[in-house]
Amino acid sequence: MRNSVVAALAAGFCLASISATSPASDSAVERGAYLMNAVAACGNCHTPFGPQGPDMSKALSGRLVEDTELWTVYAPNLTPDVETGLGGWSDAEIIRATREGVRPDGTVIGPPMPIGLYRGMSDADAEALVAYLRSVPAVKSALPASVYRVPTPPSWGPPVGRVSAPDPADQVAYGGYLAGPVAHCMECHSTPGPSGAPDFVNELGAGGMVFKGPWGESVSANLTPFGLADWSDAEIARAVREGISKDGRKLMPPMGYGYYANMTDTDMTAIIAYLRSLPEK
Ligand code: HEC
Ligand code: HEC
Repeated sequence: MRNSVVAALAAGFCLASISATSPASDSAVERGAYLMNAVAACGNCHTPFGPQGPDMSKALSGRLVEDTELWTVYAPNLTPDVETGLGGWSDAEIIRATREGVRPDGTVIGPPMPIGLYRGMSDADAEALVAYLRSVPAVKSALPASVYRVPTPPSWGPPVGRVSAPDPADQVAYGGYLAGPVAHCMECHSTPGPSGAPDFVNELGAGGMVFKGPWGESVSANLTPFGLADWSDAEIARAVREGISKDGRKLMPPMGYGYYANMTDTDMTAIIAYLRSLPEK
């Protein structure tokens, strides 16, 4: 079942300023810009919040993500600043941190970063995200270390080998790849098991995860055919891109609607095809 979350990719548009020193190809930076700003939305955790929402002038420079009974977690600065960001990290070190949750010093990254799903991110997409991270303005911003008051995973699994994405022509597989290892829809939309982590085996897409924050409390919806039975494709796309539910209600955070607004129709269609293919829960 876990493997059904793992599937392909697409091409996109460009928001990037291309670093003259970057060895990455322009197309990798473009692909990374699209993924970052429309699908993967790493900035939903790693970009600071101002009074008007995400502060894009300091994009990806880190923020306090959650302060709960369980933990006080800071998502670090991912910009190329050498002292406080990833400027001193190699491409391979950034990819390892993202897909395996291991930093260059060997320490393990804690939740809620969805590293278990990122393990399935393709080499090409991981490299594209890194190429894009190299191209964003360096911001000097040092964040405190996270404090965990519960045990955290000692490891997210063995080293990740080579990963390729499914063929985009296979809409369901490709949509599953986007909804899993890239956009992590399934991390938030699968019912938590006893440990509090999403139960991908028995409750994939069944919803019911609770998110507390300044908005109050939001509960993720059931995205299997049971939950979306009477939703049209257009209604699903509007919820994802505009944060408006079927009945017109404005949806609450922390889902990154503002990022998904930039998603191509091809990718949106693939994700919907995947959701419609899930076992009913
Ligand atoms: C749900 C929130 C969330 C999302 C989404 C997320 N991260 Fe993170 N990330 C974190 C947190 C929190 C930490 C630090 C955890 C800790 O302190 O152990 C972190 C740590 C990291 C680190 C280690 C940085 C360091 O200096 O130690 C890297 C690299 C990273 N994330 C990259 C990414 C990339 C790339 C993406 C998108 C593909 C992403 N993250 C998406 C929350 C998130
Ligand atoms: C960070 C967690 C998170 C991520 C990632 C996320 N969602 Fe959500 N989503 C939620 C929450 C919470 C709600 C309910 C918000 C509310 O009721 O106000 C929601 C609501 C929705 C709804 C509206 C359902 C309804 O009944 O109104 C749809 C459709 C949806 N999400 C699809 C997706 C898709 C597709 C993705 C990936 C592209 C995704 N979500 C990623 C947390 C998330």
